[in-house]
Amino acid sequence: MNLKSRVCDLLEIEKPIVLAGMGGASNPALAAAVSNAGGLGVLGAAACGPRQLRAWIRETRELTDKPFGVDTLLPASVRRANYDDLEGPTPADLLPDRQAFARAFMQQEGLAPLPTEAMQEQKEPDGPPLFTKEFFEAQMEVIIQERVPVYASGLGNPGPWMDALRANGSKVMAVVGAVRHAIQVKSSGLDIIVAQGHDGGGHNSPVGTMALIPQVVDAVGDTPVLGAGGISDGRGVAAALMLGAEGVWIGSAFLASKEANIFDFQKQAIVDATEEGTSVSRTVTGKPARIIRSKWTEHWLREDVEPLPMPYQGAVSGPVMAAANREGRGDINPGFAGQGIGMIKAVRPAKEIFDELVSGAEKALSRTTNLIG
Ligand SMILES: Cc1cc2nc3c(=O)[nH]c(=O)nc-3n(C[C@H](O)[C@H](O)[C@H](O)COP(=O)(O)O)c2cc1C
Repeated sequence: MNLKSRVCDLLEIEKPIVLAGMGGASNPALAAAVSNAGGLGVLGAAACGPRQLRAWIRETRELTDKPFGVDTLLPASVRRANYDDLEGPTPADLLPDRQAFARAFMQQEGLAPLPTEAMQEQKEPDGPPLFTKEFFEAQMEVIIQERVPVYASGLGNPGPWMDALRANGSKVMAVVGAVRHAIQVKSSGLDIIVAQGHDGGGHNSPVGTMALIPQVVDAVGDTPVLGAGGISDGRGVAAALMLGAEGVWIGSAFLASKEANIFDFQKQAIVDATEEGTSVSRTVTGKPARIIRSKWTEHWLREDVEPLPMPYQGAVSGPVMAAANREGRGDINPGFAGQGIGMIKAVRPAKEIFDELVSGAEKALSRTTNLIG
């Protein structure tokens, strides 16, 4: 048995298993470990300013001579600087109220705010404000200048950058959560579509993984599809292939790796969680994202307060998450994760996780052939 598909030829990898770009968590060490193991490591660069992004790309090239990718967000609904055309209070008007709400939560939880200088150090001094259109565009410039082997858009359509990416020979993929989005991104002429269902960690779809994959596969004809969302062991890999995917895009299973760039208390939260441990919430980025349930997510629900849209909610949650991180508060910032985390029982090296995904998929696929009489 040798797990293989045309995605392997397209991406020049041995096994059709791709590390999902997880913002901050999929760092050069993790991406390189997955690429070196025979898959494709993808940097989770969503929140990297242009300078850090360039440094990460170069560091990954030091750690592997295999292909790797970069994932950023290209959300269509994030506008330039202001929301002048909206009626009623704008998100900017509501920001002070929501920040006061967040400060009251911090006080209740005994979280001391980080000094302003420490918060500012987290931003690149001359860079564009986080999660604005200008920010996403500055990232794309670096990706094109650095000629990355693979570009993945985690939200939105890479269409406007296709010519430049193609001129570099970069392969392009996009993550979608609905058939109509799959059809939109296919029209840009990209190479691979990732169908990520509701089970997945981070920004995700209202449609379940099992239902989404075959419907995207049917809609996009010849374009290969990677299945994603809740796939955390070899049986899930095999299932995605049975549904017509030609590979998988896996996040949470690699979060509980030695290499992943998250706090140890967050890795422990994954190991401790069950399949019921997550919920979909807008309280961190402003867009619906699957996250491990926490005092922060539950507080908004209990108080019945509506989070702001992206990018404003980041200015509300940022100081709370930073303070929680400094104090190791897994009850407040356990992080994004998918519903497959109930299967994750230990923190292990990424290569071990990768090899087990491959062997588990091969075993599950061979068992399936025995089911036919
Ligand atoms: C911690 C975390 C961070 C994520 N950040 C991003 C991101 O920055 N960009 C993106 O395209 N997707 C992001 N995602 C979604 C993943 O790329 C992927 O689609 C998802 O992890 C798949 O589901 P799984 O976690 O069940 O494997 C994130 C997911 C997690 C768990």
